[in-house]
Amino acid sequence: MIQPIVIGNWKMNGNLLANETLLEALLSSLEKLEDVQVAVCPPLPYLAQVAQHLKDNPVALGAQTLNEHEAGAHTGEVSAAMLKDLGCQYVLVGHSERRSLYGESDIAVTAKFAAAQAAGLAPVLCVGETLAERNCGDTEAVVARQLQAVVDTLGIEALSGGVIAYEPVWAIGTGETATPDQAQAVHAFIREWLARHSAPLAARLPLLYGGSVKADNAAALFAQPDIDGGLIGGASLSPNSFANICRAAEHR
Ligand code: 13P
Repeated sequence: MIQPIVIGNWKMNGNLLANETLLEALLSSLEKLEDVQVAVCPPLPYLAQVAQHLKDNPVALGAQTLNEHEAGAHTGEVSAAMLKDLGCQYVLVGHSERRSLYGESDIAVTAKFAAAQAAGLAPVLCVGETLAERNCGDTEAVVARQLQAVVDTLGIEALSGGVIAYEPVWAIGTGETATPDQAQAVHAFIREWLARHSAPLAARLPLLYGGSVKADNAAALFAQPDIDGGLIGGASLSPNSFANICRAAEHR
């Protein structure tokens, strides 16, 4: 049995005051939550602030990106060790916005994945197809290519201790969620793909769904056998919605 995980990706939103208000409301709503790992990924400048709020709280801290190098002349970048130092447990790697807006290739994503893992962070590897790719029937090929890039270089066991998030690009921030059947089909494909490399790993690796998950569709998605939780964008900025999504994972 895989413990459900719900991760809030705040993207480039928030400020000191708004973060404090959001966290106070969220932490009190989540007080009695059991058997769900919850994490929030604020923008990098707010990691220390959020870490302070999460002290002695089971909600975990994550970052939205990292640089693959250890240290040195990389102006504007943040290393895995820095994220670890600030108390991060998770880091998103290969989010579609990083891939499409900031040109992160499969090779770059693999290097970031490796750096995160070497520093003791749990990388959340994001994969997913665009609408054009889905319409061409290429969903599985795209997802397999994104997984293969990491596994070819780092080996299947590198995924151990990580998380995979399936986020169809056409469902991100659009209000158009994959139906539970559509999401489950891709999750089952990912699980089978992993099992071809390592059945034990496939059985224990958490597979999260992301893309317009809201309080009113979360339960149906999380009821699917291969959906182990969610990666939540917009709805993670509302404490009530995010708490309700976390509760939907609890009753999975
Ligand atoms: P939305 O939940 O806003 O669609 O964003 C999903 C996402 O990109 C999470 O990483």
